[in-house]
Amino acid sequence: MSTHRKKLIEVSLPLETINRESAKDASLTHGHPSTLHRYWARRPLAACRAVIFASMVDDPGSCEDEFPTESDQGAERNRLHGILRQLVVWKNSNDENILAAARYEIARSIARHRGETAPAEPDAVLRYLGEHCPAVYDPFCGGGSISLEAQRLGLLARGSDLNPLPVLITKAMIELPPQFHNQKPVNPDADPLGMFAGTGKHAERVSWKGTSGLANDIRYYGAWMREEAYKRIGHLYPDVQLPDGTSATVVAWLWTRTVPCINPACGLHKPLMTTFHLCKKKGNEHWVKPVVNRELNTISWVVKGPSPPPSQ
Ligand SMILES: C[S@@+](CC[C@H](N)C(=O)[O-])C[C@H]1O[C@@H](n2cnc3c(N)ncnc32)[C@H](O)[C@@H]1O
Repeated sequence: MSTHRKKLIEVSLPLETINRESAKDASLTHGHPSTLHRYWARRPLAACRAVIFASMVDDPGSCEDEFPTESDQGAERNRLHGILRQLVVWKNSNDENILAAARYEIARSIARHRGETAPAEPDAVLRYLGEHCPAVYDPFCGGGSISLEAQRLGLLARGSDLNPLPVLITKAMIELPPQFHNQKPVNPDADPLGMFAGTGKHAERVSWKGTSGLANDIRYYGAWMREEAYKRIGHLYPDVQLPDGTSATVVAWLWTRTVPCINPACGLHKPLMTTFHLCKKKGNEHWVKPVVNRELNTISWVVKGPSPPPSQ
C-alpha cells in the first residue's frame, strides 16, 4: 500500500519570490503568451509554474526514511525552495538546466511513490514523466497559463473551456507547437539548412530546433497576411492628420453603430453614442466633436482637449 505524503504546497512556499515574479508578469510585453491574443483574467505564469511544481513534489517532512531529522527536512525543503525561486523567474522560463532540475524533482516524487528510482538523464526524465505522471487538467483553461506551465514542466497537459476563443488560444500554445517540433519552416524565404544566430562575425548557422521553424513560418505568413489585408481594407484605416500638419498611424479605432436619421429630409446616418469622451482624466480631458458636412451629407470627427469638456 502506498504512503500518503504531503506535497510541498501544503507545507511552505517561497511566497515573496513567487509574488514578486507574478506581479512582473502583467507588464511583460515581449514573448509572453498574452501577446498572442488578449484574454481576461489570465493567471500569472510564475504563480502557475510554482503551484504545479509544489503540488507535484513531496514535502521532505513526509519522507522520513530519506530525511529523518527536522534539520534534514528543513535543509531539503530549502533546497527545493531554491529550485522554485529560480524556476519562477521570467528570464529562466526556457532555461533547460533549471527546467531539467525541476522536472527531475517531480520525477523523484513520482518514483518515490512507485518504489522506484527516478532516471537522472533529462530525456529519460521526460519519458518517465510522460509514462507515470498524472496529466494536469484545467477544465476552465482560459488564457491557458496552467496548461502551458504543466507542459513546460514535462507533464501531460489537458484543458477545456466553455468559450471557443480560449480553447483556440490554448490549442495554439500547447497543442499545435509540439506537432512542429524540430521541423524546418516551409516558407520560400527560409534556408532549409538552418537559421543564423548571433550578430556580425559571431553569426553562425544553426539547424532549426524546437519551434524555431514554426516561428519563422508564422513570421513569414503573418507578414504576408498583414500585407494582403492592408491591400484590401487598408484604405478604410487612413492615417490621422495631427495639429502640426504631420500625419500619424492610428493606434485604436472606436466603432459605433449608425442609424438613418428619422427626418426623411436629412439623409444622414447618425452615430449611436453614449458618450463623446475619449479620456475623462482630470487635466487630460479629451472628447470627439462631430462635424457635419451638409454638401456631402457625412459626419467627420475632430478630437478636442485638453480642457473641461462641454456638458452634454
Ligand atoms: C479566469 S479564466 C481561467 C484562467 C485559467 N485557469 C488560466 O490558467 O489562465 C476562467 C475561464 O473559465 C471559463 N468558464 C466559466 N464557466 C465555465 C464552465 N461552466 N465550463 C467551462 N469553462 C467555463 C471561462 O470561459 C473563462 O475562460
